[in-house]
Amino acid sequence: MCGIVGAVAQRDVAEILLEGLRRLEYRGYDSAGLAVIQNGELQRIRRVGKVKNLADSVAENFIGGGTGIAHTRWATHGEPTERNAHPHLSNERIAVVHNGIIENYKELKADLQASGYGFQSDTDTEVLTHLIHQFIDQGLSLLEAVQKAAKTVTGAYGTAIIDKQNQDEMVVARSGSPLVIGLGIGENFVASDQLALLPVTSRFIYLEEGDVARISRKEIEIFDKTGAKVERKVNLVDAKADSADKGEYRHYMMKEIYEQPTCVRQTLEGRLTSTGVEKGIFGNGFEEMVPQIKNVTIVACGTSYHAGMVAKYWFEQYAGVSCSVEIASEFRYRKFYVHEGSLFVSISQSGETADTLAALRLAQEQGYLSSLTICNVMGSSLVRESDFNFMTRAGTEIGVASTKAFTTQLVSLLILVLTLGKHKALASEAEQAICAALMQLPGKIEQALLANSEIEDLAEEFADKHHALFLGRGDQYPIAMEGALKLKEISYIHAEAYAAGELKHGPIALIDAEMPVIVVAPNNELLEKLHSNVEEVRARGSILYVFADKDAKFQSDETQRVINVVPTEDIVAPIVYTIPLQLLSYHVAVIKGTDVDQPRNLAKSVTVE
Ligand code: AGP
Repeated sequence: MCGIVGAVAQRDVAEILLEGLRRLEYRGYDSAGLAVIQNGELQRIRRVGKVKNLADSVAENFIGGGTGIAHTRWATHGEPTERNAHPHLSNERIAVVHNGIIENYKELKADLQASGYGFQSDTDTEVLTHLIHQFIDQGLSLLEAVQKAAKTVTGAYGTAIIDKQNQDEMVVARSGSPLVIGLGIGENFVASDQLALLPVTSRFIYLEEGDVARISRKEIEIFDKTGAKVERKVNLVDAKADSADKGEYRHYMMKEIYEQPTCVRQTLEGRLTSTGVEKGIFGNGFEEMVPQIKNVTIVACGTSYHAGMVAKYWFEQYAGVSCSVEIASEFRYRKFYVHEGSLFVSISQSGETADTLAALRLAQEQGYLSSLTICNVMGSSLVRESDFNFMTRAGTEIGVASTKAFTTQLVSLLILVLTLGKHKALASEAEQAICAALMQLPGKIEQALLANSEIEDLAEEFADKHHALFLGRGDQYPIAMEGALKLKEISYIHAEAYAAGELKHGPIALIDAEMPVIVVAPNNELLEKLHSNVEEVRARGSILYVFADKDAKFQSDETQRVINVVPTEDIVAPIVYTIPLQLLSYHVAVIKGTDVDQPRNLAKSVTVE
């Protein structure tokens, strides 16, 4: 999704803005631009395509100046062209960058046109730009104009505005789209994601919903949605822990796949011993509430939703609480019944997914016992707005295709299962067995990663395929879904996942020699059933790729290729079997030559509906 970077400094800021945009590239975008106040005039450059195109133009046309804003745009209103790229200008006086969607832009545009404003773009953002200019023209300060505009528009915005007649300040506002202020020494910054500002600062203020802030080199004034001046906490972020460097890897995705043993260790650290979970790890008051929890409602999108689906099996089998899992974009628009004693759990890598956030806000009005988010980004909207949070500690995930965020979500969910189970159905031997399996998990993932070159060879056979089917049973069904999503996202091969027992109810009609079928087959109680399903597929001429425990009795032959996966305790098998599927999608994408880290049409953080 779109990215914002802004700076007010004594030095030239163009390079800081460009570096910030580069660090936001992973979020997905189609054009980029910046505007800087140079000698009292706005200098703006916008380019379609990569930030590199913009940087090349900036290098050719030196842009000096200490106050500037920059943007990567992911088109919503108006196609991805230079004239639709941000910043937008009004009367060559103010420049605006904006993330989100102004919903009432049509009415406002008609009013502004009637007042004589001409429009250069098809965007909703240009409406905001002229609106702010109109209020300044009526005698308001930049701050007052932005505050009034914030009351006039409906929809979502994170926005930064500069005014050439007021060149030592920038005004920013957020509602529904994140913004963070970075504090420097004699200079200050803003961005939609703190990652953009880590080269220049490690001190951050996360703006709250409805906040408007006036930022100068030496001062930051924040006003809440009522207009009252407020103080917001300054957070210190460990920049080293958030490295956005590819290291020895060709792609962030591969780096992140290989980071998983370390990430899982980080997720477990200080939270688990070999005998049980530590106290207080979900925050003050959580454990006291656990006896009242009778049901867990999980809401999430995409990969995070798949983590929730796995957890449903765990909650009901081990913790003795019922669990429902729902896609956030569906949950938020339906009438639902809240069972007594229901805990609302959102799962999100970014903590900013618009649908998941809207679902949380809705749930908070509907009588849930409490809300917990399992999230990877400290200070994100879901973390700030949930009653409790549990950080997955995967470190910044840059690849659009989620990998380490998913496996650490699963680990976090298992810790939640243990915490709930302790007060309910979980016997202490079972608790200890799960703890032991989790402690050994980083080592199991390391062993699963050893199959990399075998999977790389196998990927060659997929490069010319147009479709693929993934099969799993029980808690491996959501893993099959995650495998199919990964393959779709980065290799653009159409892939679907089915619970293996469902095959004969329709999808089996698709099976032929052109349809590779990928099966996840740990050695568990459903193995015999899975064998029967696999035979049904073989009998219809498909080529099978079976990721299986060595004791699962699958043999490679001319119709079936078996890739052994390290023997694993049932409870953590969904996490271990995720690894070969991640590697498969990665290698297929590399062979197909797609943009692995920034696949087409996708954004890392989906902050619009
Ligand atoms: C994962 O590979 C996807 N890019 C996507 O499905 C993602 O998981 C989804 O958009 C939810 O994002 P979140 O975890 O940040 O809320």
